[in-house]
Amino acid sequence: MKALVYLGPGAKALQVRPKPALQAADDAIVKIVKTTICGTDLHILKGDVPSCTPGRILGHEGIGVVETVGAACTSFKPGDRVLISCISSCGKCEYCRRGMYSHCTSGGWILGNSIDGTQAEFVRIPHADTSLYHLPPGVEEDALVMLSDILPTGFECGVLNGKIENPGCTVAIVGAGPIGLATLLTAQFFSPSRIIMIDLDDNRLEVARHFGATDTINSAKQDPVAEVMKLTGGVGVDTVVEAVGIPATFEVCEAIVAPGGTIANVGVHGRKVDLHLERLWSQNITITTRLVDTVTTNILLRAVASKKLNPASLITHRFSLDHILDAYDTFARAGETRALKVLISA
Ligand SMILES: NC(=O)c1ccc[n+]([C@@H]2O[C@H](COP(=O)([O-])OP(=O)(O)OC[C@H]3O[C@@H](n4cnc5c(N)ncnc54)[C@H](O)[C@@H]3O)[C@@H](O)[C@H]2O)c1
Ligand SMILES: [Zn+2]
Ligand SMILES: [Zn+2]
Repeated sequence: MKALVYLGPGAKALQVRPKPALQAADDAIVKIVKTTICGTDLHILKGDVPSCTPGRILGHEGIGVVETVGAACTSFKPGDRVLISCISSCGKCEYCRRGMYSHCTSGGWILGNSIDGTQAEFVRIPHADTSLYHLPPGVEEDALVMLSDILPTGFECGVLNGKIENPGCTVAIVGAGPIGLATLLTAQFFSPSRIIMIDLDDNRLEVARHFGATDTINSAKQDPVAEVMKLTGGVGVDTVVEAVGIPATFEVCEAIVAPGGTIANVGVHGRKVDLHLERLWSQNITITTRLVDTVTTNILLRAVASKKLNPASLITHRFSLDHILDAYDTFARAGETRALKVLISA
């Protein structure tokens, strides 16, 4: 089969690899229909993710058709159309029993990381019963690829951890990439009065306004802290979501959170960040962190089926698996290509 293989920092290739086989009784083999590329795949290609070693097939998102199942897999059968979660979970270990699938002792984020992933014609899914989801009938299937990772991430790590639960609350989201935009889409389940998006890219800010942002700030041109204070009468916002992953943006979050508010960190940080307790100690704030658990996947599938959520709006480009190197190039040059999510047909 064809597969996109990580060959070490800066190197990748489309190669012919053996089709995966069942290894455990609760495995399933899934024929990929659609997959996509995540910002995290670019982190891997930079050499930032040591658990992902050369020779690994990348990809942790996708939809497909079940090809074969192991004897212990009872919820899926060959021919079923499925959503693949970016997080594999056994459903039985202590962390899974607490709903923290991201820390499953025999799963978590392993696909396209420590085991072969979805940017291929076939993938082996461990713990299939608790790591796959049936596709709801009557929905635009392609768009469901956005539910493998980015929508649960925005919703769980941004919206739920950020306690965006009171209608009328005020929100700022730093970073208008796919994750920040997924946070923006799902924050609107709770009707905030104000959602301020902050980014350096005017195109992404324009997309954010179409997606429901009430205000946008280009922090390359304006001081984001002064602008947020102007918009909120000098108070700051109830929730600020960090969806970039660098010290400068986390420090913006610390400067614009209102007394009693929450900073929900979503970004993957590679460097230490200063925590300004000399100012924040008295502000009654909460700071949260989270690796996506994908515990809200079923809720989000229902939100899509009932048209409360339109994930198709995040797809900007389409490629075939044969052209996945072009897809990577387009995705990596998002500033010029205006790419958000690129959809790849296997
Ligand atoms: N916690 C989790 O489980 C989880 C899951 C998936 C992704 N992530 C992380 O979430 C983050 C966002 O992911 P993404 O795919 O949207 O990334 P992305 O790189 O596509 O988007 C980041 C956005 O931040 C903007 N930006 C960069 N520097 C900025 C600055 N100084 N001020 C304002 N905006 C700035 C960029 O223009 C871009 O639009 C990444 O760090 C990613 O690794 C976390
Ligand atoms: Zn991802
Ligand atoms: Zn587990």
